[in-house]
Amino acid sequence: MSEAAVEVRSLSKKFIVRHERRPSVKRLFTRLLRPFPSNVLWALRGISLSIEPGQAVGLIGENGSGKSTLLRIVAGILRPTEGSVHVRGRAGGLFELAAGFHPELSGRDNIWLSGALMGYSPRQVAERFDTIVEFSEMADFIDIPVKSYSSGMALRVGFAIAVAFEPEVLLVDEVLAVADAHFQRKAYGHLRRLQERGTALIIVSHETAAIRGTCSRALWLDHGQLRRDGDTNEVLDEYLAYAERNNHG
Ligand SMILES: Nc1ncnc2c1ncn2[C@@H]1O[C@H](COP(=O)(O)OP(=O)(O)OP(=O)(O)O)[C@@H](O)[C@H]1O
Ligand SMILES: [Mg+2]
Repeated sequence: MSEAAVEVRSLSKKFIVRHERRPSVKRLFTRLLRPFPSNVLWALRGISLSIEPGQAVGLIGENGSGKSTLLRIVAGILRPTEGSVHVRGRAGGLFELAAGFHPELSGRDNIWLSGALMGYSPRQVAERFDTIVEFSEMADFIDIPVKSYSSGMALRVGFAIAVAFEPEVLLVDEVLAVADAHFQRKAYGHLRRLQERGTALIIVSHETAAIRGTCSRALWLDHGQLRRDGDTNEVLDEYLAYAERNNHG
């Protein structure tokens, strides 16, 4: 039995992308002969990795390289096309700003709703409710609809919910970039404390300083393939040198 918090084996993910355009008379004719083209897109190819409890891993790579797809598969939101993913314990995550939040409902109601959607009982949510509000520093705004929140305000509540249940695996996709300096410091500090208590972290960020500060290991995804897996500073230096070369190439 594996002791890893996350075990990914030969994982591949295929998307079918249809190039649909608005219907036109011309297309109606040409469609009779030729259907709308559809492309097969391999967002991830042959990914294998293992993450230990308490390990913080930074996931880097260019736009469209497969980072969010990998996190969503680990979170159980998407299914692999090939290969397997095993998570020991619960995987919690923060994906898009206000994702899962109902815009018309207040922050308060959204905390209850998110807890229920994650499978927690009313009692489990009630036990953490005050901590969530306090951590987010949103007490003054907790009874107004989330649609009136700024991006950073929504992020604060979302982050506070995601960490309150202390999942064994915590996945953070980019979102901390919209937090102000104070909340970023607080959030990264909290992530480190969770890590010390054994939570495995996977953090996606284009902010290399944040990755260097939090993660001892980094994974570089390149067109869906795992190009480098190793010491954060080495992988980041190599990635940044590659990006620089590409820029001037
Ligand atoms: N639901 C989907 N249907 C079709 N293609 C998708 C879907 N989700 C992602 N893709 C494609 O998969 C590839 C990887 O996307 P992904 O969102 O994982 O990239 P990313 O590394 O998170 O990029 P970014 O840095 O911009 O967030 C892209 O080519 C994208 O177009
Ligand atoms: Mg992404």
